[in-house]
Formats: sequence, structure tokens, C-alpha cells
Amino acid sequence: ASGAAPVAPLATLAANAPVISKEVTVLFGSQTGKSQGLAKKMSKKLEELGFQVALSSMADFKPNNLKKIQNLLVLVSTHGEGDPPDNAISFHEFLHSKRAPKLEDLRFSVLSLGDTSYELFCQTGKDFDKRLEELGGKRLAPRVDCDVDFDEPAAEWMNSVLGSLSETSAGSTIVSGVGAAVESGTESEYSRTNPFQAEVLENLNLNGRGSDRETRHVEISLEGSNLQYEPGDCVGIYPENHPRLVDELIEAMGWKAEELVTINKNGEKRSLREALLHNYEITVLTKPLLEQVAKLTSNNGLQELLVAGREQDLKSYTSGRDLLDLVQDYSLKGVPAGEFVAILRKMPARLYSIASSSKAFPDEVHVTVRTVRYETQGRERYGVCSVQLAERIKSGETLPVYIQNNPNFKLPENSETPIIMIGPGTGVAPFRAFLGEREETGAEGKSWLFYGDQHFSTDFLYQIEWQKWLKDGVLTRMDVAFSRDTDQKVYVQHRMLEKSAELYKWLQEGAIVYVCGDEKKMAHDVHATLATIIEQEGGFSSEEAAEYLTRMQQQKRYQRDVY
Ligand code: 2AM
Repeated sequence: ASGAAPVAPLATLAANAPVISKEVTVLFGSQTGKSQGLAKKMSKKLEELGFQVALSSMADFKPNNLKKIQNLLVLVSTHGEGDPPDNAISFHEFLHSKRAPKLEDLRFSVLSLGDTSYELFCQTGKDFDKRLEELGGKRLAPRVDCDVDFDEPAAEWMNSVLGSLSETSAGSTIVSGVGAAVESGTESEYSRTNPFQAEVLENLNLNGRGSDRETRHVEISLEGSNLQYEPGDCVGIYPENHPRLVDELIEAMGWKAEELVTINKNGEKRSLREALLHNYEITVLTKPLLEQVAKLTSNNGLQELLVAGREQDLKSYTSGRDLLDLVQDYSLKGVPAGEFVAILRKMPARLYSIASSSKAFPDEVHVTVRTVRYETQGRERYGVCSVQLAERIKSGETLPVYIQNNPNFKLPENSETPIIMIGPGTGVAPFRAFLGEREETGAEGKSWLFYGDQHFSTDFLYQIEWQKWLKDGVLTRMDVAFSRDTDQKVYVQHRMLEKSAELYKWLQEGAIVYVCGDEKKMAHDVHATLATIIEQEGGFSSEEAAEYLTRMQQQKRYQRDVY
């Protein structure tokens, strides 16, 4: 089970601390639970070595205690365009404000999680690292920035921090065997680094004929895996690259599909075609990748693109292009396959919010996946996982999967607490899990769903289920916004605004607000609308309304699963 991690009382950090303390505070800022999983893992290692650990989310940490701390470890991911995850926002703000104390006695180290395909890679981790130094802190170990494949760098960071702490702390212990497998724990033997080959039971298109969109409802069997999840958790799926893209790439490079290439540090080999299908990312261009390709090929054009001052050109080149474009645009033909694949990123898993309650569907996990197809640079492009699910996965076939717990998107512990769920498009997925769970457990709390998509007749995902739940009273209210059925667009936030008074009343009654779906536009606009509602209905200033929402976020009464 997930939920709050055990937190050592901060009082233990107070007086009588020895000069060099064996007390370590581990703070995480986590959106999908990865940093949190790593923080837990790190805390366990520390405890095994005899350290006293205070582990907490940044949102639960009282910044006034910062001055009392001698050893601080920060594990934080970066979200969206260089932003802190929700549960790190307040602490990030506090540290960068004038209220932040001098921290001359502090020793710290930062582990940041991110993705090199974003311009502001690991920005939040960099912010914390820089700021803690500015405030007077000394580094226990250098910051480590992790790309999507974080296991190895994270394990190295843990090793160097543990080494440094053990050397300098009283009663030091030799550090040994800090393993590479770093995982937030279910009891199953299957995990991100050891996925379960799961059988697909059902794979349907939820959209009606004539819709612009295709949304797959995929039912996956977890039987025999011992994998467990709660509503709000995600499932990770390792997809396969499109065979056509792989074949075109092999052809463009003049490679041989059956040539054997080494796919990991253990020297395991596989045919080039299989490796490009399953082991490597070939659809995203990152700056580090281009740098490595430039080095490997001594390609002049590419080197020119990478010189200082041309960041904008680089960004506009990489966005929307894939490895095949790179190979064709820069005539990279002839580079040996083995050397080339060695610089590619490992295929990352795709995370989907789980759309089923395991109480309603034991040993199954359901996902709701919108098929991504578009054209750019004169070629049709495919979402790797979504198009595989739409075109190439039939029931009876298998997919490598694991569960990613998400402690930041959870039903309230008290089943009587009202919930407000805002999830247009595939953002509705976790709410099918929430309501399934509430039905199975006979929860009595009120619930309200805001849902939207383009057209009522073709895009009303899971319509029959919501209607049944409305009839049974599992769902108390539902408001829908079909954006393209009317001349003027209507979105979920317009429906929220129409129901301002009632919505504010629910907030006053302690309702928890959940938002799932598109981050950039929808979640941003919904946030602004919530602020407006609070301002108008509560008679607050806009600053007070913003604080109201921040407080809700800190109290976990406003939870987001946005992407
Ligand atoms: P649209 O495609 O007609 O613009 C799910 O994708 C639904 O979210 C669609 O109805 C889509 O409308 C809508 N949507 C698009 N932008 C949005 C925004 N900023 N806020 C809320 N919903 C939005």
C-alpha cells in the first residue's frame, strides 16, 4: 500500500546534536512518485547504516526547521517547462524568498530527475542546489542530474552521498552493496527494471464512428505477477518502436538488420532490428544525443548547429524530428551500428493513469490511451506506445508492464470526504478507478465529475458507466462540456464557473479537488478558474485566493496528475 511514508519526528533533530550529526533529513518533491520512491530507498539505506532519518515530502516539511538541520538530501523532479512538482512549489518558493535563513551549518546534496528532451533539463534540482549553496550550505556530494533512465546515476549519487556521510559522521560504517535496482516498492518481483510480460485481454476503440479521435481502452492481465495498485497509481508500459521507422532507419544508414549489437553493460547482444524495436529511443532528439553524434561522426553541419548562440536553431531543429530525420538531414550513413546505438537513450516506459479499480477488476489493469498521429516535416508521425496499442496489439498478445505508485493522487482516507474530479479527455481515466473503488467499498462521500471532449455523440468516454454510477448514487453530480457541438467552445472550466456557488460550498465542506489531463492548457486554465471561484464566492482578494489554493495543495486537498 502507498500513502504517507513514515516520518521521524522532527523533534529528534533538535538540541544536543553532536558536532557532526548522524541525523539526516531527506526531502522529496515528486509528481509521479519516482523521486519519492528514491527518497524512501535512500532513507532505508541510511537507516541500515545507523543514521536517524527524517523523510518527508517538501510540502509536509516546516521550513522553519531548516536552520536546525545539519544534513539535508533533496530528491526532486522537474515538471513541465522547468517547474517544480506540486508538492515542491511552496518550499521552492520559500527558499528563493527573503525569508530563507542563512544555512552555514548545513551539508546537503541534490539528486534531480528530469528528461534531456526538455530545454530546462532538471531545472528544479539545479535551483535547489544553487540556492542551498548561496545560503551557505556545503555539498556532501555533487548534484547528479538524471535523464529518464535514472537507475544508474541515482545509485551512483546514493553511493557518493552515503560514502561522504559515513566518512564524516560519528561511528561511521563501511558502505557496501548499494544496489542498482532502485524502485518504489510493491511486493512483486516485477518492477520498472524487471517488467512483467502481461497479456492483453481486451483492446477497444472508445470513440464512435466519425470521431476525429481514437481512444483505446486496453485491459491488461496482471495475473501471476503479484503486482498491486491503488486508484491514482500508474502503469508503465514499455512500447515497441514502429517497425516501418526502424526499417527505414536501417536502410538509410546502410546497416544490416541481422547484425548483432550489444544492448547493455553486461554485454548482452541482440539483432540490430530487435534492438531498435525494443531497446532504444529513436523518436526523440535531445541535445546530448546530437552532441554525441557530432563527436562520433565529426559531422561539420551538426557541429555548427551545436555552437554557442544557436540554441534557438537547435531547439527548433530537434522539436518534432526523429532519428531518421537526423540521419537523412546530416547524411550520417556509414556510421557503424554498434557505435551508434551505444549513444542512444534506452527506451523509456510510458506511464498511464490506471482506469480501473483492482477491487472491481481483480488481477487486471485498464488504461485509456489516445492515439497520437500527426504529420510534420512531410512525414506521418506516431505516438510510439499509443499507435502500437491501436495498430499492433491484439488481445492475447503481451506487453512489458510495471506499476508506478503515485502517492500524490489518492482517494481520501475518510470515505465520507467529498471529491471533485476534473478530467477532460483521457484525463477521466483515474476517475473511473476512483468511482469503481468507491462503489466496491460502499464509500458514502459525495462525488462530482467534470468531463469534456469534442463531441457528445462520438467522444463521451465510458458514458454508460458514469450514467450507471449516477443512477446508483456512487456519482453525485456530473457536468459535461462538449467543446465542438456548439458555435462557441465550452470547456470543463466554463461548467465549473457556472456552478461556482455549489462548487465553493463543496470546498468549504472539505472536498478534495482532483485534476487529471493536459497540463499546459487545461490544468492551467482550471487552476485559474478555481482561483476565480474562490475569490468570487469567498469574497477574497486574488492573493488570498491563491493562498487558499496553495494551502489546499499543501493539505493534499488539491491533487493533480497532469502531463
Ligand atoms: P477542443 O479540442 O475542442 O479545443 C479533451 O481534449 C477536451 O479538452 C476537448 O474538448 C478539448 O477541446 C478540451 N480543451 C482544449 N483546451 C482546453 C483548455 N484550455 N481547457 C479545458 N479544456 C480544453
